Amino acid sequence: MCDQLIQNAKDYIAVLFEGCSDGHDAEHSLRVYANAMKIAETEPGCNLEVVALAALLHDADDHKLFDTKDNYNARTFLADNGIGGGKTDFICSIINSVSFSRNRGRVPASLEGKIVQDADRLDAMGAVGIARTFAYGGKHGRPLEGGIEHFHEKLLLLRDEMNTETGRKMAESRHEFMGEFLEHFNSETSVE
Ligand code: NI
Repeated sequence: MCDQLIQNAKDYIAVLFEGCSDGHDAEHSLRVYANAMKIAETEPGCNLEVVALAALLHDADDHKLFDTKDNYNARTFLADNGIGGGKTDFICSIINSVSFSRNRGRVPASLEGKIVQDADRLDAMGAVGIARTFAYGGKHGRPLEGGIEHFHEKLLLLRDEMNTETGRKMAESRHEFMGEFLEHFNSETSVE
């Protein structure tokens, strides 16, 4: 895997997400990349470069942030960095299979897609998932209770939807921590 290519992707998303503050920012993509690399270490059959690029670029055309079509931002970066059409299509198909809301219950076809989906979902769990939930809610005018609902609608379901063995292991403590958080939140907000 080419270190310069990965650095270029990191630099590209740093510029792309400048000013984003609702949990979908460059730091999120860097954490997804780190999670994905950790999982990929335990999946010897996977293409590391594809996993790395798909993880770093997975939100580059997120419809909540960008008004692009056909993975325009991801494709622009990949073309500028000499990645061929076949590999670019593969990376974009992975990116498009990762989103939770658009792929409810659907498992990505490739091993690389399974890894990146797990990596993205892990970043919606645990302490960082809690922080992101309320950062997003605050920016979009959602009351705290709306954030709590989001745990029940999405975040608490993720543990049982992990694709890889390592993803499942990494999800365990994050899931437990969210449960503890909710217990505390409920006890502090319940009026006797
Ligand atoms: Ni994401």
